[in-house]
Amino acid sequence: MPKDVISEYIKLEGNNPILTGICPFCSGKIIVSCDNDYYHCFNCGAGGDSVDFIQRVKHYSCIEAAEFLHKPIPNDYEATQKIRTRIYEINREAAKFYYKQLVNSRKALEYVQSRCLTPSTLQHFGLGYAPDSGFQLVNYLKKQGYTAAEMIQANLANESKSGHLYDRFCDRIMFPIVDLNNHVVGFGGRILTDEKPKYLNSSNTPVFNKCRNLYGLHFAKDKADGQLILVEGYMDVIALHQAGIENAIATLGTALTEEQAMIIKQFCSEVVVCYDADEPGQKATNRALQILNSQGITTKVLSIPDGKDPDEFIEAHGADEFRQLIKFSECELSYKLRKLNESYNMEKPEEKMQYFMKAASIITNKEDVNLI
Ligand code: UTP
Ligand code: MN
Repeated sequence: MPKDVISEYIKLEGNNPILTGICPFCSGKIIVSCDNDYYHCFNCGAGGDSVDFIQRVKHYSCIEAAEFLHKPIPNDYEATQKIRTRIYEINREAAKFYYKQLVNSRKALEYVQSRCLTPSTLQHFGLGYAPDSGFQLVNYLKKQGYTAAEMIQANLANESKSGHLYDRFCDRIMFPIVDLNNHVVGFGGRILTDEKPKYLNSSNTPVFNKCRNLYGLHFAKDKADGQLILVEGYMDVIALHQAGIENAIATLGTALTEEQAMIIKQFCSEVVVCYDADEPGQKATNRALQILNSQGITTKVLSIPDGKDPDEFIEAHGADEFRQLIKFSECELSYKLRKLNESYNMEKPEEKMQYFMKAASIITNKEDVNLI
């Protein structure tokens, strides 16, 4: 019964036929059916049978989860697995296509050179270029024997109302997203100009969920040595790795999720959060600290001077200066007190007193102070 499986991991309350609890993936409200093999979270949308739950909570494959629960492997497993394998293949084929386009496009090469990326970095991360014609990838994949349905399922192509197939990514620098099994699971695509949206990312597909993957983790996990650096963007990860700081990772255009924190925890005990100094960046920092702490991960905060992001800082000051910033990154308490201090005028006795009151609650951990 799912309730017996799930109650091993979270406290369930209520009566037959529905029990409730706190979702282990997002801290939202989860319901668990007593009669059917079913659970659902109203907040993050996680839901399915007990095999699905074990898959998520233990990061198992479907087969591993079914074996763990001594259940037969689901009927549609083979069909689903076939689709997934095909999407891995089509993604890798697309990544190779984009890479070839990049090394043959003067415009794209000029752009990546202007971003200080070396040829070996382009290769290491498999960066590419999606041409602007709107159908080159589709035509190429067709020739390789992939169907329209497969291209659409992989989110590499869209279909117009008249049934015409066209490339999803056009005139963008392509960043393949690689999972821990070295599969290309999706792409981020950056526009070469100041137009918006700056980045276009793959939507979720049968092999890709942006809340469960982290950019650069497939490299960083082997270089972590107990510590990972969490940055905001693809370019930040790449600039850090290129500078020899290979334990950097990033989320995929969304705020850090509990699921990502659970994955991170498998590879390190400490995370240095290095987000933008602007207000959204600071809000995201506080949220990330909270989520990482809830998984028992020690946190530090690295604040980059003069509002730069890691990529810009390294370009301006070099890798050694950045290493110094890592070395002197603040522990969470010191970061929180400094931020609090900045929000009060300590010249005014009243404000000073308010500062001390709030500081005391932070130190005694009585209040989860929202600093902004
Ligand atoms: P940033 O706007 O900070 O960009 O977004 P960046 O990473 O520094 O990129 P460059 O240096 O301008 O090229 C941080 C991250 O947020 C996501 C991407 O993952 C990006 O790397 N993002 C940003 C999007 O998904 N879509 C957007 O339109 C913008
Ligand atoms: Mn940047």
